[in-house]
Amino acid sequence: MRTLDGGDREYIVIHLNGKARTGACDSRTLLVDFLRHELGATGTHVGCEHGVCGACTVLVEGVAVRSCLMLAAQAEDLRVDTVEGLARAEGLEAVMNDLQAAFKRHHALQCGFCTPGILMTCSDFLARVPDPTEQQVRETLSGHLCRCTGYTNIVRAVLETARARLARHSRGDTGNA
Ligand code: FES
Ligand code: FES
Repeated sequence: MRTLDGGDREYIVIHLNGKARTGACDSRTLLVDFLRHELGATGTHVGCEHGVCGACTVLVEGVAVRSCLMLAAQAEDLRVDTVEGLARAEGLEAVMNDLQAAFKRHHALQCGFCTPGILMTCSDFLARVPDPTEQQVRETLSGHLCRCTGYTNIVRAVLETARARLARHSRGDTGNA
C-alpha cells in the first residue's frame, strides 16, 4: 500500500531478488533509478535511458524488461530480479551461478558495463528456450549493445549453459551450478 511522504513522493514495496524492499518514489521515477538510488541495487546499469542499449534490463515477474522504460510505481508489489540475485551465498562468499560462470570462462565480458543486462535477458531467454540454436541466441542478444567484448564469446557462454542445464536435467539434477 502507498503512503504519502510529505509531498508528492510515495512509498512503494517491491520484491527485489526475493526480499520485500520499501523505497520512496514520485510518479515519474524510473524503475532503474529507484533500484539504484533508492534501494542501492547498483548492479543494474544505465546506458542510453531510452530503451536501446539493454544495459538496464531486469526481470519483472520473470520477464526481461528495460527498467529505463518502466516507472517504479508500475512495479509496486511485483517481483523484480536483478543481477545481484543471480549468485548464491555460501558463508561469506558469493558463488556465481552457471550462466555467470560460463561468461567468465569464455571471456564474455570485458569492461562489464553491459553484462548485467545481458545476463538478465539470457536468464529469461534460457528459461523460455532451454535448447536454443545459435541463431536464436544471436537474435536475443541483438537487443543489447556491447562495445568492448564482441558477441562470439557471449554466444558460446549462453549455448554452453543451455547444454549443461539440459544435461543436468536429463540426469535429474535440478541445481544450476
Ligand atoms: Fe535502458 Fe539503455 S539504459 S535500454
Ligand atoms: Fe564492455 Fe559490453 S563488456 S560494453
